Amino acid sequence: MPDETAVRPARREDLDLVTAIEGEADQTFVPLFGPLDWRPTKGQWRMAAPGFLLVAGEPVAGFAHVMELEGIAHLEQLAVRPALHRRGIGTALVRAAMAEAARRGYAEISLCTYADVPWNAPFYASLGFVELADLGPLHTRMQEKEVQMGLDRHGRRVVMSAPTAT
Ligand SMILES: CC(C)(COP(=O)(O)OP(=O)(O)OC[C@H]1O[C@@H](n2cnc3c(N)ncnc32)[C@H](O)[C@@H]1OP(=O)(O)O)[C@@H](O)C(=O)NCCC(=O)NCCS
Repeated sequence: MPDETAVRPARREDLDLVTAIEGEADQTFVPLFGPLDWRPTKGQWRMAAPGFLLVAGEPVAGFAHVMELEGIAHLEQLAVRPALHRRGIGTALVRAAMAEAARRGYAEISLCTYADVPWNAPFYASLGFVELADLGPLHTRMQEKEVQMGLDRHGRRVVMSAPTAT
């Protein structure tokens, strides 16, 4: 039986599914936020961005996208098909992203998320992430962009970071 928590680098043929999975996973916010005013980012864009894109499962059930920006490894997106939530796939993807970031020489990995959504900051805290109190230039700009996008209308946004070596 295929292991749905097995993680590998994304391939070109996965990219439409990556886009679709993000769209599906975003629907988990609708009961909390109402209809969403953002759309999924294309998998093709993610693959071309500086960093790496990992997928879990066969067929692909979820992905983690890490961007390498200004010497920082940043988990830009994590998404799992809602029908397969709470089976450890998200955890496997985050752990694999941390391991790959460590392999690439990063001591830490960061992300931006909602403080009070159970599958956001509390989930990441369970994997060793802590909220950053003092933000450097990259994370400050990311937070400013999130305000421009209106993400903070739905709840407090936080930047979190974890050591990549566990
Ligand atoms: C975040 C996400 C990728 C996690 O994927 P997953 O495969 O369900 O992750 P896991 O099974 O490893 O763990 C999920 C944990 O999140 C928490 N969680 C998830 N849904 C929850 C809920 N409805 N209520 C409370 N806690 C919840 C729990 O701690 C859960 O662990 P548990 O099942 O052992 O209690 C998935 O929820 C998702 O795609 N969400 C929508 C997109 C998103 O929020 N991405 C992150 C943006 S920063």
